[in-house]
Amino acid sequence: MCDTEAAKTEIPSTGLGPRQADRREDPIKFSCFGVNAGYRHIDCASAYNNEKEVGSALKSLFEMGVVKREDMFITSKLWCNDHAPEDVPEALDSTLSDLQLDYLDLYLIHWPFRYKKGTSWSPENFVTPDIPATWAAMEKLYDSGKTRAIGVSNFSCKKLNDLLAVARVPPAVNQVEGHPGWQQAKLRWFCQTKKVHFSAYSPLGSPGTSWVKGSNVLTNPIVKMVAEKLGKTPAQITLKWGLQIGHSVLPKSTNKARMQENIELFDWSIPDDLFAKFSEIEQARLILGDFIVHPQSLYKTLEDLWDDEI
Ligand code: A2P
Repeated sequence: MCDTEAAKTEIPSTGLGPRQADRREDPIKFSCFGVNAGYRHIDCASAYNNEKEVGSALKSLFEMGVVKREDMFITSKLWCNDHAPEDVPEALDSTLSDLQLDYLDLYLIHWPFRYKKGTSWSPENFVTPDIPATWAAMEKLYDSGKTRAIGVSNFSCKKLNDLLAVARVPPAVNQVEGHPGWQQAKLRWFCQTKKVHFSAYSPLGSPGTSWVKGSNVLTNPIVKMVAEKLGKTPAQITLKWGLQIGHSVLPKSTNKARMQENIELFDWSIPDDLFAKFSEIEQARLILGDFIVHPQSLYKTLEDLWDDEI
């Protein structure tokens, strides 16, 4: 799946997120099982603090001949305290070293937010982001071949448009929250018209996770009704909705059976009459990014961060 022009690669439609925010996962077992189950996209980030473990798993899989490097699509993300242009190449080198790779398939600016290098999140460390300068450093990484595509994450239409206005290499991907309960019609349309691929994180609405309270995407009556009619699970319906609307999806699971379930999406489809029902689902953003919103931040309100797309 690829609707991007500025990429030397194609993004697989279904990826796996070895996120460790709640520390329940063993990223080595997780990555090995995921690749064995058929996932070919692993969505990493330095902020997930597990790239060394994912790297060990990938190395074993390559050595055992389970999969070839060139058949995998590996994403990682630049964290907010590495935005200074001189820090960007060092951050990628560190990620490549941890993942034991020569190149990434995709490197993203994780959030349009910046704080000082080597510090932790704290208002006195906030720095006003300079996305054009950070992006120019990302473009050099693309030129060098150390990443085959560059992109962003958590960018609104406005922030993406501002970046497109100055970019020499346009962002190939915007990775953002996307599921039937937060369909992002405007952003999806904008990405489509600008040929920026829309990749959906939290495609299941992140049920049961510590950072999302009260998610009900999988228990939504329309999702459940479609699942019952088609003999699929609510998770499969939710992910298939994402694929049919044109996203790639990055489901997270720590459970082998659910990882397998989440990739069985390819020999069936949601018929048009049932697909149309999804437009009736009430919309609410679940991942607010409120850790970025602060009186001393550039983003003093959620409206500032998301440019009213909230
Ligand atoms: P678990 O790790 O126990 O499978 P998202 O990808 O939207 O962020 O959602 C991740 C959450 O969804 C995790 O808590 C995960 O729990 C749960 N999950 C993943 N796959 C399924 C599934 N097929 N059915 C129900 N819950 C799932």
